Amino acid sequence: MSKIELSSPLRDAVGAAQKLPPFPEVVWKVMPLVERMAPVAEIEAVIRFDPVITAKVLVLSRSPSFSRGQKITSLRDAIVLLGQQRLVQVVTAACSSTYFMGEAPGYDLREGELWEHSIATALMTEIVAEHLGWPEKTTAFTAAILHDIGKTILHHFVGAYFESIMALVGEKKKGFLDAEREVLGIDHQQLGERIALRWRLPSPVVTAIGFHHQPRQALVHQQLVSLVYLCDRMASAMGIGCGVDGLMQPNEDDVCIEMGITPRMIERFCADLVDRLGETRRFLSS
Ligand SMILES: [Fe+2]
Ligand SMILES: [Fe+2]
Repeated sequence: MSKIELSSPLRDAVGAAQKLPPFPEVVWKVMPLVERMAPVAEIEAVIRFDPVITAKVLVLSRSPSFSRGQKITSLRDAIVLLGQQRLVQVVTAACSSTYFMGEAPGYDLREGELWEHSIATALMTEIVAEHLGWPEKTTAFTAAILHDIGKTILHHFVGAYFESIMALVGEKKKGFLDAEREVLGIDHQQLGERIALRWRLPSPVVTAIGFHHQPRQALVHQQLVSLVYLCDRMASAMGIGCGVDGLMQPNEDDVCIEMGITPRMIERFCADLVDRLGETRRFLSS
């Protein structure tokens, strides 16, 4: 990295974010078709148009978390057998995986760990949403799977300025997020929000990405932001893609009280996630 680049991490991080490939549109094309219960052939035609996404949909739809034991041998099977909600989840995951698969050494995350964290947080929203009777499951899943998109870019800069960040954390007792923002001029929530806006993601998803560590600062979509915050906290506390910053993020856990979530419920949610993710982890790594 040249001297000029190092002198302006904010400009370079934003510049790098602008070069991220656009988010595949197939997910926004499939969602309305699924909602109006369009014929299978119509949905299949949209997904098949993108062979890379088709291949990923097939791999993900066969994972135990999504297939729930159903035998899926073709794209048509996936569309017919998964059901509306799970099909949208699988297509969303297929569209998102490319961005998260690599390593993020600045956050001490090895290859695949950020992806596992994203999947775990998203599956956790499903578990909690089922418990709370949450109506917008697919929006929550999408927001959760993309919540750390800013890290996919910012890890380069966190790595380059790690000592300065940790000096603020250690000596000035700042949270990692505040230190990130002070040293780099932007934190991974803010960078993620910029990426989400550029991708023209729905407003609730943009807000959840932008405030997933600080739900109380969100002016809109507070319930969704709190849900993503809580699911991220639980996945990190379970050591799933926790990274160097996971235990140094702001604590706004009193949102649990507002959501009616007790410590015993959290134990149950974590146990459910272990069951759901354990099989998927084995499948995806095989
Ligand atoms: Fe985060
Ligand atoms: Fe996270």
